Amino acid sequence: MRSSVESDAVSPASSAPEAALSVRGLVKSYGSRTAVNGIDLRLEPATVLTLLGPNGAGKTTTVEICEGFLRPDDGEVRVLGLNPVTDGDKIRARIGVMPQGGGAYPGVRVAEMLRVIAACSAHPLPADWLLDVLGLTSCANTPFKRLSGGQQQRLALACAVIGRPELVFLDEPTAGMDPQSRRLVWEMIGALRRDGVSVLLTTHLMDEAEALADQVVIIDEGKVVARGTPEALTSHSGEQQLRFRARPGMDLTSLLAALPSGYFTEEPIAGNYLVRGQMNPAVLSAVTTWCADQGVLADEVRVARRSLEDVFLDLTGRELRS
Ligand SMILES: Nc1ncnc2c1ncn2[C@@H]1O[C@H](COP(=O)(O)OP(=O)(O)OP(=O)(O)O)[C@@H](O)[C@H]1O
Ligand SMILES: [Mg+2]
Repeated sequence: MRSSVESDAVSPASSAPEAALSVRGLVKSYGSRTAVNGIDLRLEPATVLTLLGPNGAGKTTTVEICEGFLRPDDGEVRVLGLNPVTDGDKIRARIGVMPQGGGAYPGVRVAEMLRVIAACSAHPLPADWLLDVLGLTSCANTPFKRLSGGQQQRLALACAVIGRPELVFLDEPTAGMDPQSRRLVWEMIGALRRDGVSVLLTTHLMDEAEALADQVVIIDEGKVVARGTPEALTSHSGEQQLRFRARPGMDLTSLLAALPSGYFTEEPIAGNYLVRGQMNPAVLSAVTTWCADQGVLADEVRVARRSLEDVFLDLTGRELRS
């Protein structure tokens, strides 16, 4: 299924500036498994494009092809106007990469690793400043293997940006981070964007995508299923929701009967109720009256548009894939 908002974002006008990254008809298989099956992307300069998708959707495969670490089977990829297969050396000097899961030689010390990476760049950022900004000064002499998972992630981010890249690839940069570290990374991504850096970001965190992305691309089973700004993705259907919390297991057929036709009710998580459809004062009143008739107090009653998570789950399913 392709979202109607998608068509707005795929094809640039012929006069549009060169994309920081463009991908057309990308295909990549591992044996008989097709990981990426015809993906198109366009990342505008100085913007953040976020790839969302369930585990195994093909995000890392797509990112690694763009980084030049994997060869595509088919399709066209241009990174800063260059082909990652034939112009890998030129591209590497202009991009920053934070791979999923990171990794480094276990014995390397934090500052040492950063200085080695900085030495590959003509005009690196000052390593001490970056360590300070990312809260790593106190572990500058700590071997990589002794860092916590979140500290390793922050070091990986420092390595990705120290060479003043024009384009950075961040594959789940905040996975496993505490909320403070996550905020720090969000601030850094915002600062990169303000400095004119283009960012391709993958994440499973919907609030991260909503907070950072200029464009979101949702992929599933190697294909794009929707794309657009977070705003467009969550509001284009015009559908709203009324959410409330109450005693679990209430009879929703009687709630449905109390509403005009065209509304849907569900209890996606025990005690969390959802009424979908166009909201107006009469519907809100019908729901609270129904709750009163049931003898329950509706708690945390809220009218809102669909969240990015709702859009994501509607498109990619609510069941865990094997
Ligand atoms: N080196 C490999 N050899 C064989 N299959 C692979 C390899 N790398 C990835 N795959 C398969 O390709 C598909 C896409 O994997 P990919 O890592 O791109 O997904 P992802 O969207 O990044 O998932 P996650 O959210 O879990 O990181 C999966 O089915 C995965 O099992
Ligand atoms: Mg991945």
